[in-house]
Amino acid sequence: MPVINRIAAFHDDLTAWRRDLHEHPELGFQEHRTAAVVAEKLREFGVDEIVTGIAQTGVVGVIRGRLPGGAIGMRADMDALPILEDTGLDYASKTPGVMHACGHDGHTTMLLGAARYLAETRNFAGTVYVIFQPAEEGQAGGRVMVEEGLFERFPMDMVFGMHNWPQLPEGQFVWRHGPIMAACASIDITITGRGAHAAMPHNGIDPIVVAAHIVTALQSIVSRNVEPADSGVVTIGHISGGDAHNVIPQTVHMKGTARWFSPKVGDQLEDGVRRIATGIAGSFGAQASIDYRRTYIATVNDPAATDLAAIAARAVAGDARVKHMEKPTMGGEDFSFMLAAKQGSYIMLGGARGPDDAQVHHPKYDFNDAILPVGASYWATLAEQLLPAG
Ligand code: NI
Repeated sequence: MPVINRIAAFHDDLTAWRRDLHEHPELGFQEHRTAAVVAEKLREFGVDEIVTGIAQTGVVGVIRGRLPGGAIGMRADMDALPILEDTGLDYASKTPGVMHACGHDGHTTMLLGAARYLAETRNFAGTVYVIFQPAEEGQAGGRVMVEEGLFERFPMDMVFGMHNWPQLPEGQFVWRHGPIMAACASIDITITGRGAHAAMPHNGIDPIVVAAHIVTALQSIVSRNVEPADSGVVTIGHISGGDAHNVIPQTVHMKGTARWFSPKVGDQLEDGVRRIATGIAGSFGAQASIDYRRTYIATVNDPAATDLAAIAARAVAGDARVKHMEKPTMGGEDFSFMLAAKQGSYIMLGGARGPDDAQVHHPKYDFNDAILPVGASYWATLAEQLLPAG
């Protein structure tokens, strides 16, 4: 694979950094060690300025080229997930219940590799901002960085993001114009009925029966309210209520998620969840309290920036390994908030070792170290192509 030779030469360093981060995972906004490691490495590389503490644990490195020019941002995420690792690797998480199960250890390492190369070679005109953000997994660290003035403090023309994708062949990039990842909402519904002896249901209002009707009826939002050519998801992922064979409980709690792309569908899903939960609970004489929180907006790629990203990817991986992504995924991503504020693009880098690889967010998932120089070379190439030194 034609990665940048200088980067390929320090592949072993990249692997060691990635495995060190993997051993020491930290949850969102608690990436204190990770941020310290990142800042220390950027200092070692001779990066011109290092700003820490943006969005609590975020770090931005400023690298100036050998000539003046424009500016671009390249972003990696640093946080881990609340998952108990089950890989059995010698560099497995040393913190039980916390795991780099989405490859953000790899993302951080690939951007560090690019920073090392760019600080050493300076073969570009202008400024590269390497952005290490906290709390991508559900806590919107990317949004917090934007709110804390990321783009005012570090003025840039475009911003780029990348995610490893273990479903795609190792070293293959995919790009997409427009929406690439979905908008999300978290749903919490509490059904309050009236507890009773299970053998005397006429004395109670059974919230389990109510919950069952709600779960079934929620399926009609996507199938009957959303226009068939549009995309939407409503999933209930958790139900809890009751403790015994012979007791009708007082309450049932449900948790779920909604996903969509168009604002119209976003409203239809929220309206539908509220209408169905409230209406069905009421029809049984129970009550539904609904906490519906829209968390991430859709990740929407600018076509011109995406074409530039694809050109850089082709220079690294070759034409045959850079493909158009036919459909967006319904996963969520808080790089969406950066793309809503700044022209840019988010692409995927394949990391499959074989067909049986665990997927991201799985306790057996492990980032594929073979793609570290590929991702780092992509970042470095993007900087040199977008900010040409002549
Ligand atoms: Ni991720």
